[in-house]
Amino acid sequence: MTRHMETLLPDKIDALFINCHLATMADNALAIIEKAALAVTGKTISWVGKEKNLTENFKTGCPKIIDCNKGWILPGFVDCHTHLVWGGSRSNEFEMRLNGATYEEISKKGGGIFSTVQSTRNASKNELFILASKRVDALLKQGITTLEIKSGYGLDLKTELKILEVIRQLDENFPLHVEATFLGAHALPPEYQNNPDGYIDLVTQTMLPEVKAQGIATSVDVFCEHIAFTLPQTKKVFETAKNLGLNIKLHAEQLSDSNGAALASTFNALSCDHLEYLSLSGAKKMAQHNVAAVLLPGAFYFLKETQKPPVDIFRNLKIPMAVSTDLNPGSSPVHSMTLILNMACILFDLTCEEALLGATINGAKALGLELSKGSIETGKDADLVVWDIDTPEDLCYLVGLTSINTVMIKGRIHHTNLCK
Ligand code: NIG
Ligand code: FE
Repeated sequence: MTRHMETLLPDKIDALFINCHLATMADNALAIIEKAALAVTGKTISWVGKEKNLTENFKTGCPKIIDCNKGWILPGFVDCHTHLVWGGSRSNEFEMRLNGATYEEISKKGGGIFSTVQSTRNASKNELFILASKRVDALLKQGITTLEIKSGYGLDLKTELKILEVIRQLDENFPLHVEATFLGAHALPPEYQNNPDGYIDLVTQTMLPEVKAQGIATSVDVFCEHIAFTLPQTKKVFETAKNLGLNIKLHAEQLSDSNGAALASTFNALSCDHLEYLSLSGAKKMAQHNVAAVLLPGAFYFLKETQKPPVDIFRNLKIPMAVSTDLNPGSSPVHSMTLILNMACILFDLTCEEALLGATINGAKALGLELSKGSIETGKDADLVVWDIDTPEDLCYLVGLTSINTVMIKGRIHHTNLCK
């Protein structure tokens, strides 16, 4: 149960949610407040508490009252790992995999990420924006209010910048908050097939300085894997990113143990993501440097992976576990956060509470946004979703039935069927 302390009622409020229950996600738990009310002033949550503690004139003075009909309010979901700007389709590879080919085999034959790179290079900025908009729209309808999107399907300066510009456009045109991550070191482009170090030089000497100069991404990610980049190459990218003052993230130990998480930890990365093949020593380094573990059950499921990430080790070492869609065309074409929550529980043995923390406050931690996003606490951004459910656990349990009554982002209502 909650240890929530109510603060004084604010002088001015713009919106008041009543007749609701809250799963606040404060204090690393669901932190439930039943029969609650929640006040919003401007863009911010200004009061959280029991509805019975509201005075009558406080209610009458409020310009907008949202009666939630006993619904549950949770913080908007934070989807902290996606690659949702891409051109083309990989449904043919899905069919190939169902006929027995593996993800790595397809990649080695020039399919996989390379095929998406070709289509993304050939697509115009406007085409990419329209394609990505459909995906963002689907996520918004799933209660996501903060979204990270990576580049990485360009692998040349022009296309990487084109993708990052589309990400910026999405941020400007959709109500949700978008964080951009530069993933130039996602795969080796065909032009550099025999010269991987030459490509890393391009990433560090040309792409990263340009990305920084344009202020078009806040973080830098690398795919450290035998089908992508080695540990020394990853280190070079991180050194440059660090010098430029960009945050660091890593696709680590997804298909094998490359010791990437330990390296990323020494650079104080925000997160290491995937982690199915993480070793105990890698996990210890993550704990030591306060690095979040981003679990991506959609990719595990879609690739029919059998090695699970070491969830018990994360628990024992108190490493925050985030949960994300990893929305991308090759390993996780999943546009549903509630399905991902269910997968996190069934495939990775998370409790509903852990999965929900993963999609809210721990997702925010993986983006370095935990002071403003991911939980319902006074002073945080009013990013709120009112769900028509009986318990918060329903979001992990009732696959396909949960529905949204209201979405508020930074104090503005973007969707509601509750208000008159
Ligand atoms: O997170 N691991 C590398 N990147 C993506 C997959 C990209 C793709 O196959 O297009 C991932 O799984
Ligand atoms: Fe990914």
